[in-house]
Amino acid sequence: MCGIVAYVGSQDAAPILLEGLQRLEYRGYDSAGLAVVNAKSLRTRKVKGRVADLAAVVPARFKGGSGIGHTRWATHGVPSDVNAHPHLDQEQRIAVVHNGIIENADELRRRLEADGIVFESETDSEVLSHLIGSTVKETDTLEEAVRRALKSVVGTYGIAVVDSHRPGEIVVARNGSPIVLGIGEKEMFAASDVAALIRYTRQVVHLEDGELAVLKADGFNTFTSDARETAKEPFTVDWEAGHYDNGGYEHYLLKEISEQPDTVARTLRGRLDDRFHIAHLGGLNMDPRESRSFRRVKIIGCGSAYYSGQIGAQLIEELARIPADAEPASEFRYRSPVVEADTLYIAISQSGETYDTLAAVQELKRKGGRVLGIVNTVGSAIARECDGGVYLHAGPEVSVASTKAFTSTAVAFALIALHLGRVRDLSPADGRRICDGLRKLPEQIKEILTQEEHIRTLAMKYADAPGMMFVGRVRGYPVAREGAQKLKEISYVHAEAYPASELKHGPLALISPELPTVAIVPDDELLDKNLTTLGEIRAREGRILMVGHRTADAADDCIVVPKNETELDPILLTIPLQIFAYHAAVALGRDVDRPRNLAKSVTVE
Ligand code: F6R
Repeated sequence: MCGIVAYVGSQDAAPILLEGLQRLEYRGYDSAGLAVVNAKSLRTRKVKGRVADLAAVVPARFKGGSGIGHTRWATHGVPSDVNAHPHLDQEQRIAVVHNGIIENADELRRRLEADGIVFESETDSEVLSHLIGSTVKETDTLEEAVRRALKSVVGTYGIAVVDSHRPGEIVVARNGSPIVLGIGEKEMFAASDVAALIRYTRQVVHLEDGELAVLKADGFNTFTSDARETAKEPFTVDWEAGHYDNGGYEHYLLKEISEQPDTVARTLRGRLDDRFHIAHLGGLNMDPRESRSFRRVKIIGCGSAYYSGQIGAQLIEELARIPADAEPASEFRYRSPVVEADTLYIAISQSGETYDTLAAVQELKRKGGRVLGIVNTVGSAIARECDGGVYLHAGPEVSVASTKAFTSTAVAFALIALHLGRVRDLSPADGRRICDGLRKLPEQIKEILTQEEHIRTLAMKYADAPGMMFVGRVRGYPVAREGAQKLKEISYVHAEAYPASELKHGPLALISPELPTVAIVPDDELLDKNLTTLGEIRAREGRILMVGHRTADAADDCIVVPKNETELDPILLTIPLQIFAYHAAVALGRDVDRPRNLAKSVTVE
């Protein structure tokens, strides 16, 4: 997904921009560019390809104390040098980088062309540089030109703008696409993601939708779209630059899978109460009476976040006995949902910036819903929008496929379910059982990680299959869905997930020696039913890889994970599937951390 970085200060901007762009590479992109301004000129370089290709064409004497950079992920127009950002106005005075989508770009382009403006690229973004360029001559400030230009724009944007007539100044604006300011010593940064600026500063300010900021070396001012100045309190990001290093692992994905004993421990830290066997979740901002008042829980999130929400819904139903279900936020927001006062809404997002989830939260808030967030990125848009919530403290997730955020989200749900259960009918003994089970997780995850070699051998055995079926019952079903998701997104092997109970209602027709099945078979009250399903697959000559708490004769291969409390088992059952997908993708030579067509954080519709 597109990335923005901007710098103004006493250092040379170009190396800082290139370093920032490198930090954004993990989000996925197809071209990169930058513009640097000094007292004499505005110069740009842009290329189709990697940031390293851009660095290779930036001359050593590319001097200037302010500039903007961009990694582009093509939406309007193919990946090419010309379509890469920054885009300039006709007089080559203004340069703009843009994340998001300008919905009325065609209409604006026609209007500008009728005024004699010649476009260079096929992008929607280029209308912004021309709009600002044609306005800036009539305004006293760049900020006013940007504000006026944005008034005619329909769509989403995070933008950074420089003007060759004002070398020490950058204007940034946000509507639906994140912009964060970084405050340095006599220098200012801006980026679409803190990853780009964390090497230089941890003091940050998030822009809200509709806000615009003027950055100079000695500070910044923020304004609403109607030019009222806003007061912003900077906060300190607790992530460190080192979190973005690969730690000696071949891929970030493997690093993040391996971090899970620590990340799960961090999600739990300080939140379990041994005296009353409850969870301390101050961030929920709810007293026990309020926590008791909900009659239903509705969970929303996208992709893997949604699957972790399905695990969450089961935990809440089992431990708190409140009806709970999960739905993709991307569907929820479009179906004019009925919002009830006695329903607790929970939104999940690792990045905190997923547009569909944010839009769903905003719709809920408009209708008076009470929304909690389970979010990894502190201060992100979804976190700011929610009434309260639980931060994961899993550290930044760099690889596109979610792993550690998934398990930490499931753990956060166990804590919420414990909280909601203990203010209702969950007994202290059951509360204790869950607390003890949660405490065991980090060590048990370590045990699973020791099986990496065994799982790698299995991944190599099955990686050649044209497709795989993943099945699970009740608690095992979201695990199966997440397993299929991991496999398809990083190895590009087709994978379907089905409730094991549904197999005989259709998909059994697919079973053959060519379509192996990964079966999630925990030791729970459904074990016998699951073993019967394995028999049915076996009878159709289907090969079976079973993931569970024991081996079974019906399975060709087994991965055995440590047993925890039944309600918590899905968390552990997920981890071998992450390792399996990782090694299948490596065996197939895939770009594991940056799978094709995908972006880490989907900040567009
Ligand atoms: C899958 C994956 C995606 C994300 C989804 C939501 O591995 O990473 O499905 O889970 O795009 O992202 P967040 O959690 O940032 O809202």
